Amino acid sequence: MSNEGLKEVVCVTGGSGFIGSWLVRLLLDRGYTVHATVKDLHDDRETKHLEALEGAESRLRLFQIDLLDYDSIVAVVTGAAGVFHLASPCIVDQVQDPEVFNYSPYFSKDEKELLAPAIKGTINVLTAAKELGVRRVVVTSSISAITPSPSWPADVVKREDCWTDADYCKQKKVWYPLSKTLAEKAAWEFAKEKNLDVVVVNPGTVMGPILPPTINASMLMLLRLVQGCTDIYEDHFMGSVHVKDVALAHILVYENTSATGRHLCVEAISHYGDFAAKVAELYPEYKVPRLPKDTQPGLLRAKNGAQKLMDLGMQFISMEQIIKDSVESLRSKGFIS
Ligand SMILES: NC(=O)c1ccc[n+]([C@@H]2O[C@H](COP(=O)([O-])OP(=O)(O)OC[C@H]3O[C@@H](n4cnc5c(N)ncnc54)[C@H](OP(=O)(O)O)[C@@H]3O)[C@@H](O)[C@H]2O)c1
Repeated sequence: MSNEGLKEVVCVTGGSGFIGSWLVRLLLDRGYTVHATVKDLHDDRETKHLEALEGAESRLRLFQIDLLDYDSIVAVVTGAAGVFHLASPCIVDQVQDPEVFNYSPYFSKDEKELLAPAIKGTINVLTAAKELGVRRVVVTSSISAITPSPSWPADVVKREDCWTDADYCKQKKVWYPLSKTLAEKAAWEFAKEKNLDVVVVNPGTVMGPILPPTINASMLMLLRLVQGCTDIYEDHFMGSVHVKDVALAHILVYENTSATGRHLCVEAISHYGDFAAKVAELYPEYKVPRLPKDTQPGLLRAKNGAQKLMDLGMQFISMEQIIKDSVESLRSKGFIS
């Protein structure tokens, strides 16, 4: 897939993560020079798998950043024509801090862990991109900025103009969707005010082969499922997507100047119950629980939920293949036998 014509420098924040590692890999394959960020340059679990990628020796530079430290971000964005902003805490488990909104403007204990890096981190990255003359920024948002959205019309398929209900999130204490929603809104406000070219990808639950040695939140969902966990992720699921497709979607919207706005990135809009039933069918040897059919009340299923990306040429890997690649990866990494 190498493309000798493309040699510009791009920056990937969160390059050490599950999606970030795949994005770095595909960018290197295409001939880009990549500035990728890690949280700790001395932690082999963040660096070794990136340094082992083809092309890394000559075209990958690793930078240590803290999303709340603007100067560390300036260093990595310097010289980049494009920025992919993925770094953000990805936690679907309940974060417990009832005081979470009593501090202003930013942030108490759990806010520091989740909301501050997501929102302030996004603004820091966009500010550096604007200051340093970056051409286009791709921001990794999420379906968590689209759903939960309980007042969306029941007879209309959820799409890019649907937004997560922030008040509902606060009431139900679901902080991750709130963090992604506020971060994406902040990005759009910044883009408009400062006239910065921003485009957004909103992936569903991302699964597939794991490149880092550690496991991320979405692959942990699958691991728990095959171990018998009955959580239905009511406010956290809208469909699955292969990690390679997510990385490809980022490159597609970066390279395609006609791409604008948000891009829902799922192989189909589906319920977690559909996903769990498919895992049970493919792997009867595991203790996959039988979940209710409709685990996401009111969510209409749709095969072409990601039509905007399909119109740009995306052909999504099926849910069955996503599950097979993911289980194979969990096995080969020793997370399950
Ligand atoms: N996985 C999904 O299903 C999914 C779905 C939709 C959207 N997303 C979004 O995709 C992005 C990447 O997610 P992922 O699944 O690849 O998660 P991940 O493996 O946990 O990667 C997150 C990355 O962000 C970095 N990071 C987190 N907090 C940071 C901070 N304060 N300063 C600097 N770097 C920080 C992490 O560094 P460390 O490795 O050092 O912690 C890691 O490289 C996130 O924005 C997430 O919200 C994920």
